[in-house]
This record gives sequence, C-alpha cells and structure tokens, in this order.
Amino acid sequence: MPAFKYKLSNKIGPITVEDYRELAERSVPDMVWAYVDYGAEDMQTLEANRNAFARYMFKRKVLTGNEATDLSVTIGGETLSLPVLLAPTGSAGLSHWTGEVGAAQAAENAGTLSILSTAASYSYEEVAEATEKDHFFQLYPWADLRTGRHDLTLSLIQRAQRAGYRAMFVTVDVQVIGNRESERKRGMGRPPIITPARVLNGAMKPKWWTAFLKHRRMGGRNLVEGVGARAAMTSINTQYSMMRPELNWDDFAFMRDNWKGPLYIKGVLDADDAQHAVDLGATGVVVSNHGGRQLEGDVASLDALPAIAARVGGQAEVLIDGGIRRGSDVVKALCLGADAVCIGRPYLYGLAAAGPAGAQHIIEIFREEIKRTMTLMGVGSLKELDSSWLLPADTAIH
Ligand SMILES: Cc1cc2nc3c(=O)[nH]c(=O)nc-3n(C[C@H](O)[C@H](O)[C@H](O)COP(=O)(O)O)c2cc1C
Repeated sequence: MPAFKYKLSNKIGPITVEDYRELAERSVPDMVWAYVDYGAEDMQTLEANRNAFARYMFKRKVLTGNEATDLSVTIGGETLSLPVLLAPTGSAGLSHWTGEVGAAQAAENAGTLSILSTAASYSYEEVAEATEKDHFFQLYPWADLRTGRHDLTLSLIQRAQRAGYRAMFVTVDVQVIGNRESERKRGMGRPPIITPARVLNGAMKPKWWTAFLKHRRMGGRNLVEGVGARAAMTSINTQYSMMRPELNWDDFAFMRDNWKGPLYIKGVLDADDAQHAVDLGATGVVVSNHGGRQLEGDVASLDALPAIAARVGGQAEVLIDGGIRRGSDVVKALCLGADAVCIGRPYLYGLAAAGPAGAQHIIEIFREEIKRTMTLMGVGSLKELDSSWLLPADTAIH
C-alpha cells in the first residue's frame, strides 16, 4: 500500500471555552470586549468567581461500572438535556449581530433554554417569534420615573407573559450600575463615547463592523422602538434613570403578584435573603454576583452556594452563575447543592467568535466535559452528586 499523502496542520478548531475566549477577543472591537469580558473596579470578584472552583478537588471512586449518559434536569417545569442554561446578558447583539435570537436558538438546538435579558438587543417578542420553545426572561425591577411606580415593569411582565415566556428571573443586584472602570476607559460609559480612534479600532474588525452597520443591534429593544444609535442611547438613558436603590421586598412581592409562572430571584448571596425570597413565593434562587460586574468585593458565587443550598435546597430550586468555564466547574457546583448552573460570558465568546454555531458549540463542550468528568469520578447520574465527592484542594492527599 502506498504511503498516505497528507499535510500537517495545526489548525484544530476551538475545543475549550478559553479557546473561544481568545477568538472572541480578536473578533470584536476593544470597546465591546471591555463590555463583555471585564468587571467592576479591580475585578477581584470576577477573579474570585473563577478561583473558587480550584479550591475543590474530586474524591473519585474506581470500578463503579458507572457511565454518565443522562444529564437531564427539570428547571421551572421544563426538562433540559443538561444542567446548563444561558444567563441573561444585555446587548448580546454587540457580540454578534444575531444576539439573543442566536443565543436562544443555540440553546434550544442543544436541548436547553436561555433567559432573555430586559436589556436585550432583540425584544421579548422578536426572540419568541424566532424560537420554538418557550424560553425564560429576566426582569430588572425598575420603578417607572414618569409615574413614580411600576408601570413600565408591569408592561414588561405582561408583554413577556403574552409572548409565552415560561419563567421570570428578577435581578436584584443592580440598584445602581456597578463601577466598571475598565469599560468606561474604553468608551463604554453612559453614554458610550465614540472617538475617531475607537471607530478605527472597530473598522479593523471588518466582519464585525459590516454586520454591525447592517443590523445595528446594540441594546434596549424592550425599552424603545427602532434600532440604531439613537434608540440605543435612549434606551441606555431610560435604563439608568430607572434604577432605584429604594426598591425593597414589597417590590419583589409586587412582581410575584403580577406573574403567573415560575419565579426566580437572581443575584442572591445570603442564605437569609434566599429564604426570604422563597417565603415570598420564589420557585428558585440564582446565587450570583452578576459575574463580578456589580459589587466589587462580593464573595465568589461558589463560596456563597453551600449555605444557601443548605437553607433553601429542597424547598426551592438553586441555580448558580459566575466563573463557570468547564464541565468540572458545573459538577463541583452540583456537588455543593446547585440544581443547575447558568453561563454568561462563555456563550458570548461563542457568539462573538462564530455566531449561533459557536454558542451551541460552547454548550456541547460543557455537555461533553460534564459527562467525562462524572464518568471518570465513577458517577452515573446527577442525583448521586453531593459534597462527599469533593475535598478541599489543599488537603486533597488521600
Ligand atoms: C455582557 C454581560 C451583560 C449582562 N447583562 C445582564 C442583564 O442584562 N441582566 C442580568 O440579570 N444579568 C446580566 N449579566 C450577568 C449574567 O446574567 C450572569 O450573572 C454572569 O454573566 C455570570 O457570570 P459569567 O459571565 O462568569 O458566567 C450580564 C453579564 C455580562 C457578561
């Protein structure tokens, strides 16, 4: 037989979330990258989210005969093929013009769901029309300045209900906007500051620039009519003028009274707060510090998880987000009491690098990594996961 003729190529496509992160950084202008990837102030919480996972190691078993094949979970009454949902991220159209529509389609093709942000580049109605499943939506509990109360919030809830969204996630950690200095230094302030140098920087990513100019999907489609710079600016002003530090548990009860489906509180790090939300009727809590974008100095989500799971697990669903980049991170979170996790930046990396296919590939990477991790641990099903599978990293000699 003659020798095979082939050319060596080191062009293996992206196979990890980090690979996608590197591609994403090269695909979008610096301003957009700062918005997607950076966090508040010195980014200690952003880093803490990530580092928390390395403090746990697995305590595996051998010859169990177990293989993890079924990763399905039920969240908000919906069966998902894996315990990973797409977290709400505003202005996903900046990462890729398909934005939240691309993300929701990727989620449903992968057998899971996305949570659509109030500050999305596509409206609740647009995403609902472009998808087959009923997805979840996120609500900022703003007070409407014009009436002094909840007119706008109520109309957002009613629109989402009419459009067929299954579950509502009320985000409670944005009383004011976090101090994202790195974003502001790169022009993503309120309002964004566009200089000739920044336009040039955008133009050096011609693929992004062409799509951006063609589709002009920035953000705020739930808040203003129309696309483009003026609409985006109006929506940013609307959003920031409606943040109300005085919002309180009565407002949460108002949201509950006006929503018929499963209800989640997003942005909880304290077990008493989690219990309070559940006592008021929350179906579940999302343990989250907004991906290190809000209160600098917040503890890592993973560090807040065990106490919250101990308090409300069993009465309510416990979700977590923040710093999850590997299937093994998902497994660790599940061992510490989470029912499922949400990912934010990872699917934005996928979108930025390769559109909806990239976002779907990110979910598939998580699926494969979760399965392999569990099988190598000797675990066959998600139900078996608990803290007995973990050891603190510094004492992991056994
Ligand atoms: C670019 C970006 C925009 C975000 N916008 C929102 C939003 O509109 N509403 C919200 O509740 N959370 C928002 N978040 C927070 C995410 O829902 C989630 O809590 C966070 O991204 C999880 O951390 P991770 O990015 O490390 O996975 C945003 C996060 C990012 C990165």
